[in-house]
Amino acid sequence: MTGAAGAAARFGWPGAGITPIAGGHINDSFLVTHPAGEYVLQRLNRGVFTDLGGMTANSLAVHRHLGTGLVPEPVPAADGRWLVEDGDDRWRAWRRVPDAGPCTGLDAAAARSAGALLGRFHAGVADLDPSRLAVPLPRFHDLRRRLAALEVELAADRYGRARGAADEIARVREAAPLVGVAGDLADRVPVRTAHFDAKLDNVLFRRGEAVCLVDLDTVMPGPWFWDLGDLLRTAATTAAEDASDPAEVTVDPALYDAVVSGYRAAVPAGVLTPAEVEAVTAAGAVATYEQAVRFLSDWLAGDVYFRTTRPGHNLERARAQLALLATLPSPLNRP
Ligand SMILES: Nc1ncnc2c1ncn2[C@@H]1O[C@H](COP(=O)(O)OP(=O)(O)O)[C@@H](O)[C@H]1O
Ligand SMILES: [Mg+2]
Repeated sequence: MTGAAGAAARFGWPGAGITPIAGGHINDSFLVTHPAGEYVLQRLNRGVFTDLGGMTANSLAVHRHLGTGLVPEPVPAADGRWLVEDGDDRWRAWRRVPDAGPCTGLDAAAARSAGALLGRFHAGVADLDPSRLAVPLPRFHDLRRRLAALEVELAADRYGRARGAADEIARVREAAPLVGVAGDLADRVPVRTAHFDAKLDNVLFRRGEAVCLVDLDTVMPGPWFWDLGDLLRTAATTAAEDASDPAEVTVDPALYDAVVSGYRAAVPAGVLTPAEVEAVTAAGAVATYEQAVRFLSDWLAGDVYFRTTRPGHNLERARAQLALLATLPSPLNRP
């Protein structure tokens, strides 16, 4: 037996019910229902992740440090290994976070709760030595690198898509001073154990309360402001990340303030350095800018990284991020 059913059997769940989980951009995730319990089984994206051993070790280190609760519990296969090999596929599993799911109905209370969850996560990993972690995706959050990669795709323009994206390219270049802002902050804040993909999709809610931060694949050493930035990017607006009409994509100041205040209240005094406190104000703008650059690069590169479901999807995503950036508090928008 191959595929998800075969993998489930090797975790000790033969004959389990298996349903795909929509929403993830990177791995293939399945909900497994078996008399033993409910699990999330994932076929890892080997095109994106090459250091599966390091990635797994990072998830285990964070889970060992925090226990089950803020983060999900990894589940080993029947032979005791964390990764199951099946041909070219690699599978791993988590216990399903009970009665929890993605945010339905983003309001200020949910935004505050998500901010607080991230704050508790940061407070919890503040004493987890980042030098013990692997770097599964080198320079993952690095605006200078992301912008350089965009320029490479632009020069190559392999799919002739640059002309149709001229407006977006101009707007990305206009906001390029954010590269310096992020670089300066990164130089001054400490290297931490960071989640590095702390968007709202990766926050699970139970009865309106944010309870678990999933998707530990990108945990690695780095500045925390990217985490707050990713959460602001996705939780400070009710517009979808890929809204087709950029006019709909604006920041909701009440949601923005709720994320920030929930976060600040959950991180005990003295944990954040002065530079980290300063970075809070720029976090949303730099993370949104980075995501715009990444979507635009992927559009020019022929949609190789982010899964797309319609023509022009990555260009629309880039447009939406640029529209959000224009309304977010930003070091560039100050009078
Ligand atoms: N332990 C879990 N319990 C419940 N739902 C989960 C769990 N892990 C993941 N999910 C759901 O599956 C989705 C995709 O999983 P994720 O690890 O984020 O994969 P991807 O890297 O593809 O985004 C999550 O957004 C979440 O809704
Ligand atoms: Mg995810």
